[in-house]
Amino acid sequence: MSRLRGKNIVLGISAGIAAYKTPLLVRLLKKEGARVRIILTPNAHKFVTPLTLSVLSEEEVLTSFTAEDKDNPVWNDHVAIGNWADLMFIAPATAHTISSMAHAKCNNLLIATYLSATCPVMIAPAMDLDMYGHPANQKNLELLASYGHTVLPVGEGPLASGLVGKGRLLEPEILKDHILSFFDKKGPLQGKKVLITAGPTYEKIDPVRFIGNFSSGKMGVALAWRAYHLGGEVDLVIGPNTLELVESPFNIIPVVNAQQMHHAVMKSYQYADIVISAAAVADFRPKNQSLSKIKKSTATDTIHLEKTPDILFEMGAKKKNQFLVGFALETDDGLTAALGKMKEKNLDAIVLNSLQDAGAGFATDTNKITYIGNDEKPTIFPLKSKKAVAQDIWNEIIAQRH
Ligand code: C5P
Repeated sequence: MSRLRGKNIVLGISAGIAAYKTPLLVRLLKKEGARVRIILTPNAHKFVTPLTLSVLSEEEVLTSFTAEDKDNPVWNDHVAIGNWADLMFIAPATAHTISSMAHAKCNNLLIATYLSATCPVMIAPAMDLDMYGHPANQKNLELLASYGHTVLPVGEGPLASGLVGKGRLLEPEILKDHILSFFDKKGPLQGKKVLITAGPTYEKIDPVRFIGNFSSGKMGVALAWRAYHLGGEVDLVIGPNTLELVESPFNIIPVVNAQQMHHAVMKSYQYADIVISAAAVADFRPKNQSLSKIKKSTATDTIHLEKTPDILFEMGAKKKNQFLVGFALETDDGLTAALGKMKEKNLDAIVLNSLQDAGAGFATDTNKITYIGNDEKPTIFPLKSKKAVAQDIWNEIIAQRH
């Protein structure tokens, strides 16, 4: 197989024990036809030898800004290497390298190349479990995701420290698969139809007034982008919003009220494989809509309401093979309420965000979620950018469907 023929990969290796896995990764990438140029951080050679890597990659392995020849030093041009690459892949990415990348601490050739590179970047972290889970490290990973980089998950199992848990570098075969699917543009959602609802709905009282909510649509849009990057064919049904959606590569169906959202969703639902209902649909609408502006002098102090269709409930009731994910925005006792909704609406998973958490919920750029799949075990994530949260949600969905 030569699925990587003609592809240029810069492999950045930082100084962690998991670097011992990288010669095998280099072999696998070379076997697929890639050109692999390797940059080590200054201490990485203590874990894997440059000689091994240069023999396997058939390229010079770089560590410093200048080549070793003292009489006639040669500059290792990080800008040229960065421009040469089709993909920059950092494995293992230690906490230190992750932090340097996140904060542009340009103290070695690897970081200088990273900052110069204009190609996509993938990061495979590896470190001890408490280091990995530390909020400072998680925050840095989230920053990298917010720059548009792909942050791969870590493996779980025995660690060099003797502890057992999350933090292992993914195995070389799996790393290679991630690289292959990146170049194939065949993400795990290839051939899958994804339907996402987002934003609020506005229910008119009269031509100038409405019942609505503070939903911005940002979470749903982040989910749509991630689904697209994973290879999915996306329909985004979105209520009134102020987001820049013109250039989006997916199918956008703008709606205003719950009735229109219901209509658009049910049309797309029959063909959908995975549905995420992130919209904050108004639960009630005025029973009678006034065709002209209601005057203060004639207005009564009562608006009669009626229920809007519960779109997600209907999808749950009509479910065939679709994988159905709901959102639950709660103010208190969120877990019980979310589990209740998951059952009531016949969902496969539910994403809980609590308004009790600062930075979570509606108009913010961040969110803090708990994902609950059909095993009913909650996975709690820290506060992250909505882009990074979208990655987490899709990682969970893909893992659950496997
Ligand atoms: O019951 P509740 O409105 O809290 O449930 C939230 C979930 O149901 C969200 O996924 C939301 O998009 C969906 N929903 C819906 N139609 C409604 C109300 C909520 O699809 N009328």
